[in-house]
Amino acid sequence: METETNTGTSIGATPLAVVTGASTGIGRALAAQLAEHGFDVVIAAEEPEIHEAADALAEHGQQIVPVQADLSTADGVTALHTRVTELGRPVVALVLNAGIGVSGRFDQTALEDDLRLVDLNVRSTVHLAKLVVRDMVAAGSGKVLVTSSIAAVAPGPYHATYAASKAFVHSFAEGIREELKDTGVTVTSLMPGPTETEFFSRADMGDTPVGQADKDDARDVAKDGYEALMAGKASVVAGSFKNRLQAELGTHLPDALAAPIMARMTKPQQ
Ligand SMILES: NC(=O)c1ccc[n+]([C@@H]2O[C@H](COP(=O)([O-])OP(=O)(O)OC[C@H]3O[C@@H](n4cnc5c(N)ncnc54)[C@H](OP(=O)(O)O)[C@@H]3O)[C@@H](O)[C@H]2O)c1
Repeated sequence: METETNTGTSIGATPLAVVTGASTGIGRALAAQLAEHGFDVVIAAEEPEIHEAADALAEHGQQIVPVQADLSTADGVTALHTRVTELGRPVVALVLNAGIGVSGRFDQTALEDDLRLVDLNVRSTVHLAKLVVRDMVAAGSGKVLVTSSIAAVAPGPYHATYAASKAFVHSFAEGIREELKDTGVTVTSLMPGPTETEFFSRADMGDTPVGQADKDDARDVAKDGYEALMAGKASVVAGSFKNRLQAELGTHLPDALAAPIMARMTKPQQ
């Protein structure tokens, strides 16, 4: 089945990728990596800017299909999957990247913000993975990249629901990776450290030490993520050496010691 895209041309037989949260930041850079390497890409985000992102990404010469959908809702995930299915082509690479943060002490953050975070970061990841991975297994091949974080490996005071959501998706990726090891489908967890994107302002983390610290370039993070995805690695700590150090510390320090260290980076200053 062929379909018209935003560029007005029809899709041929090149490999197809799907990237969520691809209008800005790490997701957009991952979509650019995929397009540069010859993938047609379905890109999804909530706001209308996803169409502008598609126009910009089409400069790589591949077909880019924008889908505007609120993935914090089941209807939004279903709409994205329906659009992908309409293309009538196997998904070769699935990048489950859309995510948001919420900053502040748990008793002071809004319940609806915390629940929306869980719906987007956790629920939509499981939902879309369920729909696409079944087809990948049936096809006997596929590559899945889940954007987790180095925040996944330690307690996350002052962004507790966020760190817990990243621990969930990291564990989820590692778990289904093992289950699927004989199916031809690989699952990779991308673990960025602090990265220069709209994430911190959206999460209202501008007044935290981590929000004010130097950050990695999203393009470097995406390059690491793309290479790990293609190599079928279990996980990759992306970006600077500092991130690898922090991931090691978070993994090996007892949580009771790690929690106050993390709090020094994430506690709002006002
Ligand atoms: N930046 C960091 O330091 C960092 C570190 C580790 C992990 N991460 C993870 O990296 C991923 C990407 O974050 P980023 O840093 O690139 O942030 P970003 O620039 O804010 O990008 C977030 C993306 O998610 C989309 N999105 C947000 N809510 C959505 C919704 N309800 N439905 C559909 N799409 C939605 C946004 O699109 P709209 O504008 O249309 O909402 C945007 O495309 C997240 O999972 C984040 O947790 C980031």
